Amino acid sequence: ELSGPAWKRAEGFDWGEPAARRRLLGEVEAAGGLAQAHPLVAGRAASLKEEAVFAPADPTRRVGTVSWAGEKQVEEALRIGSERAREWERVPVEERAKALETLGDRLWHHRARLLFLLREEAGKTLPDGWTELQEAIDFCRYYAVEARRLFGGLRPLPGPSGERNQIGWRGRGLFACISPWNFPLSIFLGQIVAALAAGNAVVAKPAEQTPLVAAEVLRLALGAGIPPEVLHLLPGAGAVGEALVRDPRLSGVAFTGSGAVASRIAQLLASRGGALAPLIAETGGVNVMVVDATAAAEQAVDDILVSAFRSSGQRCSSLRLLLVQEEAAPRLLDLLAGAIEELVVGDPRDLSTDVGPVIERGAQLELEKEAWRLARAGKLLAKASLASTASPGGYYFCPQLVEIPSPALVDREIFGPILPVVRFRIEELEAILDSIARRGFGLTMGLETRLSERIRMVRERARVGNLYVNRPMIGAAVEFQPFGGEGLSGTGPKSGGPRYLEAFGVERVSSENV
Ligand code: SER
Repeated sequence: ELSGPAWKRAEGFDWGEPAARRRLLGEVEAAGGLAQAHPLVAGRAASLKEEAVFAPADPTRRVGTVSWAGEKQVEEALRIGSERAREWERVPVEERAKALETLGDRLWHHRARLLFLLREEAGKTLPDGWTELQEAIDFCRYYAVEARRLFGGLRPLPGPSGERNQIGWRGRGLFACISPWNFPLSIFLGQIVAALAAGNAVVAKPAEQTPLVAAEVLRLALGAGIPPEVLHLLPGAGAVGEALVRDPRLSGVAFTGSGAVASRIAQLLASRGGALAPLIAETGGVNVMVVDATAAAEQAVDDILVSAFRSSGQRCSSLRLLLVQEEAAPRLLDLLAGAIEELVVGDPRDLSTDVGPVIERGAQLELEKEAWRLARAGKLLAKASLASTASPGGYYFCPQLVEIPSPALVDREIFGPILPVVRFRIEELEAILDSIARRGFGLTMGLETRLSERIRMVRERARVGNLYVNRPMIGAAVEFQPFGGEGLSGTGPKSGGPRYLEAFGVERVSSENV
């Protein structure tokens, strides 16, 4: 029997309803206007030199201005955050949980502005922005419920007569939350609200590419009753993150981004003095989908398109290597090629756009290089084309399907809408899955099949955090699909899952002879 969730999920949106879409677009345009991001330490904005921020869809379009945190703001945030963390920890959990729920409601209320900024600063289409907004709201509501469950007080433990043993969870102190540009709202906020729910203070360092969304979210959080002394914002580059992580006043780090940076953070934490601080890291993956000859081809094509190209392929969960059983390949690849050629690649301001830009010029160049390397080793099967809405200077990269002779050619994460495909013979499948597992990435995997025996086999052999069968392999829903990888893909625990808040806290036991 299904027990209903103890919290209300964020509302969906019917994209098939043209009038509703137009209305939403009108609301989003009305919420436009230049944005600003500053370092915010104890609620005070530092006035520093400002730099313009431009839209990846059209780098002549100004979205707002940012000023970057300097040493002074880093030091103040560390000092005030570490001094005031204990006060926040002593705030009753019910009050902390209520502040998160208020924040969830505020995100909903300000959705038009958030969708505008996600579109302009991160290049997201409205449907992509909407799912991100939903996830952010769900994180607030779910972690509020989880905080009450875990941090609500002491629980009895067994013991000999006369001895009273109890266990409970408390906050650690000050957390650094270092987040990526691909989910500048939901991953940025998910880390923060988990740390706050567990009773920690937070210094947040958003990705350099997306400070404006972060600043907007932070202002909403402060307005929801989270004291400014326990939530600080430091827009900046990697050097800001390094300065935070090196400091012994920090009690823990939540990081989502590249594997190289995760290793660097682990090294810095190990070599600094002071308390041993945990690292909760979520990185990338070389995520595979297997389509066998029993799969429903149309369903598989839909799932592949969503998995590889939604969010311009810039999700850590995105499909990076497609494996198709050779008997199924001619029809499936034909259908897939046709569907790719119909994708509309253009400005996300246009409602007919399926795939918007990638985040920056460097990403676009890197993708062009990878596409060339793969096409030279194999054969380009299909490529989408640019719509007239795409500005010539925008950072567009058209989705493509490239057949390659061996999975070995995809040995690292290619972060964008390139889909390499390999045909396999069924007797090779187990060996291929084993060799993929040996590379050590373990984030997501997709499987399209109608054989329950095959599902069982793949579940046994795959060493991934999230396996998706006969459905898209992106878009984990809070609580339904706790999300996160293993090995090179992350430390766990999974965001949106029942163990996440524990990692932000410490367990304390009290044994009393009474
Ligand atoms: N959580 C996202 C997804 O499941 C990826 O970051 O797609």
